[in-house]
Amino acid sequence: MSDRDFLKELSFEEKATLISFGDVLYTKSVDVCKIPVLQSSDGPHGVRKISENGRSRIEGNNTCFPTASALGATWNKEIAFEVGAAIADDCTQENIDFILGPAINMKRTPHCGRNFEYISEDPYLSGILGAEYVKGAQSKGIGTCVKHFAANNQEINRGIINVEVDERTLREYYLKPFEILLKNCNPTSVMCAYNKINGIWCSENEFLLRQILRDEWKYDGLVVSDWGAVHNIAKAIHAGLNYEMPNNSNAVKTLKEALVRGEITENDLDEAVLAYVDFAKRLLDMKKLTKKEGYSRAKQHEIAYRGACESITLLKNNNNALPLTKDKYNKIIILGSSAKTPQIQGGGSSRTTVSDAYIDSPIEYIINNSEGITIDYIPLFDGMVNDERIQQKVASVVGEYDCAVMFVANNYGSDGETESFDRDNLKLPNYVNAAISKMAEKCKNSVLVLQSGGPIIPYRWDNVSAVVQMWYSGEASGRAIADILFGIVNPSGKLSETFIKSERTDIDYPGDGIKVKYDEKLNVGYRYYDRHPVDVYFPFGHGLSYTEFDYSDINISSADIVSDRFSISVSCKIKNIGNVVGKEIIQLYIGQLDNIVDKPMKELKGFEKIELEPGEEKTVTFALTNEDFSYYNVCMHRWHVESGRYKIYIASSLADVRLEESVSILNERDYTKDMWDRTDIPV
Ligand code: BGC
Repeated sequence: MSDRDFLKELSFEEKATLISFGDVLYTKSVDVCKIPVLQSSDGPHGVRKISENGRSRIEGNNTCFPTASALGATWNKEIAFEVGAAIADDCTQENIDFILGPAINMKRTPHCGRNFEYISEDPYLSGILGAEYVKGAQSKGIGTCVKHFAANNQEINRGIINVEVDERTLREYYLKPFEILLKNCNPTSVMCAYNKINGIWCSENEFLLRQILRDEWKYDGLVVSDWGAVHNIAKAIHAGLNYEMPNNSNAVKTLKEALVRGEITENDLDEAVLAYVDFAKRLLDMKKLTKKEGYSRAKQHEIAYRGACESITLLKNNNNALPLTKDKYNKIIILGSSAKTPQIQGGGSSRTTVSDAYIDSPIEYIINNSEGITIDYIPLFDGMVNDERIQQKVASVVGEYDCAVMFVANNYGSDGETESFDRDNLKLPNYVNAAISKMAEKCKNSVLVLQSGGPIIPYRWDNVSAVVQMWYSGEASGRAIADILFGIVNPSGKLSETFIKSERTDIDYPGDGIKVKYDEKLNVGYRYYDRHPVDVYFPFGHGLSYTEFDYSDINISSADIVSDRFSISVSCKIKNIGNVVGKEIIQLYIGQLDNIVDKPMKELKGFEKIELEPGEEKTVTFALTNEDFSYYNVCMHRWHVESGRYKIYIASSLADVRLEESVSILNERDYTKDMWDRTDIPV
């Protein structure tokens, strides 16, 4: 019996009923194939347990891992794999078959309320870490669903907005993380986005779902819709969607009418059913890898802790205000209620159902770590929102301490950053900023700890000695921050997105309610800020350590290339020149010097995170191919290497290039210049 034979046993109605979800997060069974109901769960940073009818959340045993932007800040492939695998272990405990993650949309604007669910503003970092998450989860027998394909970059009007974007920008930026992820792993499913791209719903977008995903990228898993993203199931399956989420009671009628009108064929429907059956069989097969026994909630917490430790990013550390050690400080005051009850995640469908019992409170661990130092704590912000009064309070308290540490969470008015809403304001409320600047004025050593999923625009924070980005780093972030503050753990996170001083007003955002024009093209995130450094608070890739690293001996296997298909390697040495063990994230960027086509000054094409003992030196090697030097030529309809001189930058952050080398490339089939000289075709 061939794999398709079962289709003969199903009527048109049965097939039409099969390709939409049963109830909320459950699929339907396919009895002729002995496929039971399968269960999904959000995602992405842990399990969201819901009641069987899907109406309510159930607080449970589930682990809250660092949210995606924090995971991005780890720049650590092993951690991303480990977190994916650990989430799978939670899924197994809850009989969940596939997790609705990872989410790898680009961050076009820091206003997007869901940015904390997305890994980075860079496609390479997002694609590589997203792939590790998928490999980790699937290695434990749990399916994944990579979302939201594509260009869902704002929550305002996400269900109606038409993203107007040119093909080169789409391919080089908004689709790129998905392309990289799919090159590196084979997720069981991909979820399309709510929005339209160039006038066509993502759920009905043949260019996206068929041409790119299937034909070019050869993806053979299941393509599902976001919840409610299907407007017409017939158009959707014709365009290449396979499964509608959640249940659509009109599916049979819509599909039948479309069949009669000749808008779909029965083959379109068969294709969708087959894709679902293949997906389900793959999941059932993978299930053999799952193991319910041996699960340890304490071990899960430990993985969440390791992830949090690697994500927390030391942004500033004037006069070595950190770490907090007894040779520097006798008495420290801890301020802010989020030092007691941290904001560990954002709001919306991704909110894991972790019970409070598993959430580490920073203050408890701070007290644990503080032997020989007096620690006092005041919640400070409890109910007090008056700038003057809060300043008086801070002034009256902090003067008697030799260090003040203020915890601030971006959770004003709601759940924190959240799905369905964008962030109106990228600044903290005035009374919080007033408290921060008063602390810095009155205490010589002041530390600000920020709990947020994305950048917060600073306001009179210049005199603060140290700033630590804690992110929304999951249930164990309280212990992780305490260990970092006291130097028990050396910070090793780096920014996965640019932290800005002022916001851009030159882009069309949030659009006019119907459309949003991505006219800034590739000038997004650091691709824009590399040219506008005055607006940057801390650059992409930035993060300090309690030690220092020396970079030397850059070596490139070939500096003169005459080909459009090549591979080269670049190596360099990194040495820990400080006194404590630490981890460094070495970043490789490429930029062309003599380009005809407009290109970003630098683009990330490689990164490694390594650990070094004091005095230890290691060699890091990066492999590059022609693909890393290509741009998408819309005239040739393919990726293309422009001849010219390129720089390879080895950097500690986008703005801190430590080593560089030049490569000259002669592509004898480079027609860029000829095309550029013509005015009738876009290049
Ligand atoms: C979100 C998805 C999520 C789904 C199920 C949608 O609103 O956009 O990311 O997986 O709901 O909860």
